[in-house]
Amino acid sequence: MTEKRRVLTGITTSGTPHLGNYVGAIRPAIAASRRADVESFYFLADYHALVKCDDPARVQRSTLEIAASWLACGLDPDKVFFYRQSDIPEIPELTWMLTCITPKGLLNRAHAYKAAVDQNTGGGDDQDAGINAGLYMYPVLMAADILIFKAHEVPVGRDQVQHLEIARDIAQRFNHLYADSLAQAKTAFVLPEVRIEENVATLPGTDGRKMSKSYNNTIPLWLSSKDLKKAILGIVTDSRAPGEAKDAESSNIFAIYQAFASAAETAEMRRAFEAGIAWGEAKQKLFERIDAELAAPRARYEALIANPAQIERQLVAGAAKARERAGAFMEKLRWAVGVRRLTDVAPSAAADANAGRANAAALPQWKNYREADGKFYFKLDDADGKTLLQSRGFDSPKDAGRLVADLVDKGNDVAAVSGLVESALPAGAAADMHAIGTALSALKAAKIAKEEKTS
Ligand code: TRP
Repeated sequence: MTEKRRVLTGITTSGTPHLGNYVGAIRPAIAASRRADVESFYFLADYHALVKCDDPARVQRSTLEIAASWLACGLDPDKVFFYRQSDIPEIPELTWMLTCITPKGLLNRAHAYKAAVDQNTGGGDDQDAGINAGLYMYPVLMAADILIFKAHEVPVGRDQVQHLEIARDIAQRFNHLYADSLAQAKTAFVLPEVRIEENVATLPGTDGRKMSKSYNNTIPLWLSSKDLKKAILGIVTDSRAPGEAKDAESSNIFAIYQAFASAAETAEMRRAFEAGIAWGEAKQKLFERIDAELAAPRARYEALIANPAQIERQLVAGAAKARERAGAFMEKLRWAVGVRRLTDVAPSAAADANAGRANAAALPQWKNYREADGKFYFKLDDADGKTLLQSRGFDSPKDAGRLVADLVDKGNDVAAVSGLVESALPAGAAADMHAIGTALSALKAAKIAKEEKTS
């Protein structure tokens, strides 16, 4: 079995997804995640959001909206690693290890930090006025995001290229500095490559500049049909009258249309521009094309956003799956830098992160037992050993076993699970459905991950 290529990218959870994010990131990433020779890692970078956003409600809401957007657009969380950065404690842990080997001068040269310094000095202020250390450390946290999963490839926008260079630089330094102990532990960082999506469109915004939150020219992805139409009617155009030939290449309307339309539809629109289509009509056609593509995902988005508990369970399950990798790798890294048990002389026998070994201790556990009444029971404990579900007595172990199998199988289906749990409980007993759902999702994710490894 050859190792799959790992593709990883993060989305900062500080805003509301817009059409530019959809065309430039969400849609191509989901298409790429369907390839069989690739393992995709998509995560919600909520720790990165804290660097520029101190509004807790907004960070939470943005996390919900972005997670729901990816799922609504067809991301299959069983096929990819889809998780929230803050659910992976190995990331901040690795950030510190990397911080300790990162030259401060490297971070002084990072564009975002330098731009903030230049603005201060230009305005006669102290160079670091108003700059938090999070902005300064941003590239190191991002390097940890990437290196912890040994990503080979990181698809990002042009503005992130320097961050990838910094991540490679840090990885190389670490590999070099700890070469001996890494060799003993049989591991090392993979040097990630940046991938700029050349053939993915950059959408213009309503004012003709690149669609971006910082220009305040975005069209939110999940507007109602009516509001979407209004937003599209508001896109600026030149003053050419109906009947006058229009230049497709320089038109925002055409550029956006092209990002949604097939080649044939685009060619037809180009002819309509030459023939002098009125701006109002071109905008109407643009609206209809976008609305047709977004109608079905929009309905799914609305259903998802109304049920945060379901998304939460998927994220928790995604984190459990991702931590099987991160945890095993982190164990080796700790050993490599000397953060060791006093009795450890050689690296632990833990399998390497990407050779994969389920981290059994981090998973919920089933226990089967027989009581003095001769009946068969089972219970489900969470990863910390707290009992979540204690069954009634069954006459045969098979009946109990079947119910357990069904529960794991239905892990993500809230309605089915609550019916099964009810039939498992003693009459009149209650259970914490949310906690059970979370545990079942984690077990299901682990089961799928294991099947993938052996197939
Ligand atoms: N900095 C990225 C952005 O603003 C988001 C991000 C955080 C990221 N961690 C990452 C992207 C790791 C790729 C890989 O777009």
